[in-house]
Amino acid sequence: MQLTLLPLLFLANYAFTQSTNQTLNATLSGNSQLSNLTTFLNASPGLIQALGQTQNITILAPNNDAFSALLSSSAGGALASDSGLVSALLQYHVLNGTYPASMITNMSMFIPTLLMNESYSSVTGGQRVEAVMIGNETVFYSGLLQNSTVTQANINFTGGIIHVVDSVLTLPISVSETASTANLTSIRGALNATNLTSIINETPDLTIFAPTNGAFQSIGSALANLSVSDLADILTYHVVNGTVAYSASLMNGTSIQTVQGGNITITIDANGTVFVNSAKVITPNVLVANGVVHVIDNVLNPNATSARPTLSATSGAPGFTGASSVSDVPFTSGQPTPTTTVNPTSKGPGPASTGVGSSSTGAAIPMMTGAVRMGALFGAGAAVLVGY
Ligand SMILES: *[C@@H]1O[C@H](CO)[C@@H](O)[C@H](O)[C@H]1NC(C)=O
Ligand SMILES: *[C@@H]1O[C@H](CO)[C@@H](O)[C@H](O)[C@H]1NC(C)=O
Ligand SMILES: *[C@@H]1O[C@H](CO)[C@@H](O)[C@H](O)[C@H]1NC(C)=O
Ligand SMILES: *[C@@H]1O[C@H](CO)[C@@H](O)[C@H](O)[C@H]1NC(C)=O
Ligand SMILES: *[C@@H]1O[C@H](CO)[C@@H](O)[C@H](O)[C@H]1NC(C)=O
Ligand SMILES: *[C@@H]1O[C@H](CO)[C@@H](O)[C@H](O)[C@H]1NC(C)=O
Ligand SMILES: *[C@@H]1O[C@H](CO)[C@@H](O)[C@H](O)[C@H]1NC(C)=O
Ligand SMILES: *[C@@H]1O[C@H](CO)[C@@H](O)[C@H](O)[C@H]1NC(C)=O
Ligand SMILES: *[C@@H]1O[C@H](CO)[C@@H](O)[C@H](O)[C@H]1NC(C)=O
Ligand SMILES: *[C@@H]1O[C@H](CO)[C@@H](O)[C@H](O)[C@H]1NC(C)=O
Ligand SMILES: *[C@@H]1O[C@H](CO)[C@@H](O)[C@H](O)[C@H]1NC(C)=O
Ligand SMILES: *[C@@H]1O[C@H](CO)[C@@H](O)[C@H](O)[C@H]1NC(C)=O
Repeated sequence: MQLTLLPLLFLANYAFTQSTNQTLNATLSGNSQLSNLTTFLNASPGLIQALGQTQNITILAPNNDAFSALLSSSAGGALASDSGLVSALLQYHVLNGTYPASMITNMSMFIPTLLMNESYSSVTGGQRVEAVMIGNETVFYSGLLQNSTVTQANINFTGGIIHVVDSVLTLPISVSETASTANLTSIRGALNATNLTSIINETPDLTIFAPTNGAFQSIGSALANLSVSDLADILTYHVVNGTVAYSASLMNGTSIQTVQGGNITITIDANGTVFVNSAKVITPNVLVANGVVHVIDNVLNPNATSARPTLSATSGAPGFTGASSVSDVPFTSGQPTPTTTVNPTSKGPGPASTGVGSSSTGAAIPMMTGAVRMGALFGAGAAVLVGY
């Protein structure tokens, strides 16, 4: 295959003077792993020209295996019926700036993409993708912590560079749909019970510290008789408005004002473990349509803003002291149950620049089967993000 393409490539090179300065189309056409992407892009009039004229970009180009996984999934057909979603997904594969693999280290970077369409993303400056080196592999994490690994890096074209990846990125979806997928159904139910769901889903640029179901369950007695406004105060104390704080920007000692009004304080211990007040971040950087969710192991208490962790502790401490656990997970009655399971083999997003460690296997890492993943991309995700 590659051999038979060589004469074509050579001609293209000849026409464009330099082997390192080909047009996007010529570059894509010359790569046998990208024939499906090339076909796809050439099927939309003007698309490849527009993309080819954009300068200073990095394209994450899904290879044929990635396309085949996409198209063989049950929901793959939805691609054809929602051009807005296809275009958003394509924009999400284009990074704003030239990022050769050498720039991507074991410190996570959160790189802005060209996805700015407000129906799909409300992260100022463009929805982000996480880039990190894990072992000898360059990995990109997208929505629901799905990972795409670079199989061929640093292919030059006139507007920048291309990295070939082994799977299509997942568009970050809403907070509540992400919570369902990640088995964070207690906070999802609590948001619904306080009528905060639409505000949390729709306010741009949020950082949400989402306690696990177990965290809510362990202080169940303290939650049992709360008024709606007290519960709303607790929930909004977990939300920062106007700042999308990826782990890379969480600094030891930082105090951040929440939507509730009180401040939360970030502590990073010598092992690089990140705590919010006394709660530990167990799964950082789950990208959502309007910001980022960090999963924490305890519920924060707006009346205990001075709670701090025991340094080097392997888990956080409850912000509600004296509370006892309950048998049912709070606020989940009547809520949809997650259809997915936690993937114990995932290494998680790896160390970030703050030293946020790999997720423990017990963390609520959202992992989905291929079919469900596409369901989120082209089914549920579309319904949620397009606004029904
Ligand atoms: C790609 O471009 C970069 C920067 O212009 C250059 O350093 C590199 O050698 C080029 N790579 C190839 C394979 O030509
Ligand atoms: C690459 O091509 C573009 C447009 O085709 C041109 O403007 C640019 O000068 C070229 N760069 C090199 C290094 O030849
Ligand atoms: C892109 O390249 C392919 C293969 O060389 C060609 O068939 C197609 O017409 C080109 N598309 C554009 C828009 O130039
Ligand atoms: C994708 O690429 C493979 C391998 O080149 C090819 O057999 C298949 O027909 C392509 N599919 C589409 C939809 O272009
Ligand atoms: C890329 O980001 C810069 C700011 O760093 C912005 O001015 C520019 O509009 C963005 N480009 C695109 C194509 O979105
Ligand atoms: C390319 O984009 C990056 C990130 O937006 C920016 O910092 C850099 O200045 C841009 N370079 C050029 C040559 O436009
Ligand atoms: C990474 O290392 C493994 C063995 O340690 C090797 O099999 C694999 O090919 C390497 N991958 C890359 C992209 O270098
Ligand atoms: C929920 O909030 C919306 C506005 O965000 C409001 O219209 C509605 O009346 C509220 N419902 C309840 C039950 O408070
Ligand atoms: C978030 O901040 C914006 C801008 O300051 C403000 O308009 C909006 O009401 C705030 N939303 C919440 C939920 O605090
Ligand atoms: C969401 O809350 C409303 C009341 O605000 C309630 O009627 C509805 O049943 C709740 N939905 C779920 C799935 O719990
Ligand atoms: C979701 O969390 C609950 C409570 O922590 C647990 O019992 C259940 O097994 C989890 N479900 C999945 C699919 O992981
Ligand atoms: C990527 O995801 C797959 C499952 O989809 C998992 O097996 C693998 O360990 C993950 N890799 C990394 C580096 O997270």
